[in-house]
Amino acid sequence: MLRANPKATPPIVRGLRCAACGTSVAIDTPFSWRCPNAIENDRHHVLLIESDVAPLRRAKHANPFIAFRRYLAWDAFAHAHGMSEADRDGLIIELDAQVASVAGTGFVFTPFARADALSDALGFSVSGGVWVKDETHNVAGSQKSRHLFTELLHLVSAERLGLAPWGSTSRPSLAIASCGNAAFAASTLAKAVDWPISVFVPEWADAALVARLHALGANVQHCPRRPADPAGDPCVFRFREAVADGAIPFGVQGPENAWCLDGGRTIGWEMAYVAEHMEPPLIARLFVQSGGGAFAASLAEGFHAGGTRAALHAVQAEGCAPLAHAWEASGKFSTMNQAAAHWSECMTPWPTTPVSFADGILDDETYDWVSVCRAMRASGGFPVVAPEQLVHEAYALAHRTTTIDVSPTGAAGLAGVLAIRDRINDDERVAVVFSGIRRETPKP
Ligand SMILES: Cc1ncc(COP(=O)(O)O)c(C=O)c1O
Ligand SMILES: [Zn+2]
Repeated sequence: MLRANPKATPPIVRGLRCAACGTSVAIDTPFSWRCPNAIENDRHHVLLIESDVAPLRRAKHANPFIAFRRYLAWDAFAHAHGMSEADRDGLIIELDAQVASVAGTGFVFTPFARADALSDALGFSVSGGVWVKDETHNVAGSQKSRHLFTELLHLVSAERLGLAPWGSTSRPSLAIASCGNAAFAASTLAKAVDWPISVFVPEWADAALVARLHALGANVQHCPRRPADPAGDPCVFRFREAVADGAIPFGVQGPENAWCLDGGRTIGWEMAYVAEHMEPPLIARLFVQSGGGAFAASLAEGFHAGGTRAALHAVQAEGCAPLAHAWEASGKFSTMNQAAAHWSECMTPWPTTPVSFADGILDDETYDWVSVCRAMRASGGFPVVAPEQLVHEAYALAHRTTTIDVSPTGAAGLAGVLAIRDRINDDERVAVVFSGIRRETPKP
């Protein structure tokens, strides 16, 4: 049940600002997915949310989008257009129920607790250890739906506020380029509101995933490389062509749609809220498996809002680790905004075919590298490149010591803990996120 709020709780997001060119975008701007200067195929811009969350407070509600509503950019957007607080909560509840009718669950706080057997296996003392955030039972089986839900809230509220140029029967299609959890989450949310979606997948996309996408009514487009394509992912090229033709970007990469960075923060707020109420010592490090980087960027932003500066370690597998170069190359710039203005110098696509058992983090570019590097700088963290053998070991260890049915990608942050275990004190507390459920991969 939603409790009446004793005090007015005004939204706190001030606006959006491009990290690369400094352009500001007012919070009431509808469909402000990209920096206005990111024209044609230039994606070396990213709008970031401007707000000061601290001190972190939650409303008493099991749904994180309601509990932390006033910190969301979406909330400030709807407020700026005159939508009342009750209607904002009401819209979340309404969409959440529709999502639950497709996904079998709506959005609720997910578990975050010390994993005792895992901590013992890694030789931590009783006061130290590994805290695991379990996203495997989140909507659509991974953290991806959190990022997408604020895009959906923006879209549906804009429609209801009369800001959309289309009528409800002629909605433009949503579009996403993905071959994994993001595609499944996007198709789940689209189905929940009956919005058409095109999913651009590689030629070799997993047949079981494609079947799940078809079952959700998605228009699945296989994307072989075309002779005229430049280097890079043909799925992304077809996705961008669709967006140029009027489709709505509905993915989890900040430069393609900044509003994914909004809802992604709920996971960090949930963790911070637990961490703040823990007896000391505080959680000292966060290990986050990173593909495109939106997850690490928004998780860290959310967690650090709680006032504890745990060091962020973005973890990539040795078979696809473009962030390490961006970290080194951006080091010579005194601010990350300066580094962002030299985008192609810092973020160079991974030069060979990405490979790892953690196949959900094989993005050849860490699109959200600016925010990830900023959070690592601010917290005294650094990227960890995990040897492939440790990616396998982390998966096996997670299954041996916990009851969470995590996927290899979902356990890859733990490979980062293994990789630098000798630099972590036995009394330290560290956090990982088991971010996705195991599907096709055999259990170890
Ligand atoms: C389970 C899981 N964890 C982590 C990630 C990494 O997220 P991001 O691409 O935002 O870095 C992904 C997807 O790419 C994923 O599917
Ligand atoms: Zn810009």
